[in-house]
Amino acid sequence: MLHPRDWFAKAVGLGGIHVAVDESGEVGGYMAVTPRPDPKDPGLPAVVREMVRLADSNLADGKFLATRPYAIHGPVCIDERFRGKGVFSAFHQATSNAYRNFYDRAVLFVSVDNPRSLHTATAKLGARTMGRFSAEGAEFHLLVMEF
Ligand SMILES: CC(C)(COP(=O)(O)OP(=O)(O)OC[C@H]1O[C@@H](n2cnc3c(N)ncnc32)[C@H](O)[C@@H]1OP(=O)(O)O)[C@@H](O)C(=O)NCCC(=O)NCCS
Repeated sequence: MLHPRDWFAKAVGLGGIHVAVDESGEVGGYMAVTPRPDPKDPGLPAVVREMVRLADSNLADGKFLATRPYAIHGPVCIDERFRGKGVFSAFHQATSNAYRNFYDRAVLFVSVDNPRSLHTATAKLGARTMGRFSAEGAEFHLLVMEF
């Protein structure tokens, strides 16, 4: 590894990509948890920019935003061969443990055409729907969850 240990500690604290591998080392999926991005970042996907804009206005309760920034949860993808085996819940357990000392909440978006993802977000992450929004010609649910 070229990066010092401190770099990894900071990366885990600020956000990161969690990867699941099986006994043979084959990658089964990943779940991302990253810090709230700067919505002015020109490289940001439009869907993330719109999500942050809406989340900022929806979550602006008291000092929350100034003291404890929220995280962005996702994307998450589990290889078809590994679905339905508890990997999603294992990811959630791992990411909750990793981030709850750094963030109270995370926001996420789910396509309105992805009922499986909406189910896992609500039933397994405990996320609540805050509303819907459009970006890049598609419709999304905006959700918030507690770590
Ligand atoms: C979304 C995803 C990460 C979930 O992982 P998974 O291993 O399939 O999750 P699980 O098997 O633990 O849970 C799936 C749940 O969805 C339910 N489900 C499956 N199809 C469904 C559908 N069409 N509508 C509603 N719920 C559905 C299952 O019954 C199960 O719920 P239960 O455990 O309460 O019975 C995975 O399916 C995936 O990678 N999909 C492709 C990428 C994607 O859509 N990512 C999310 C958006 S970034």
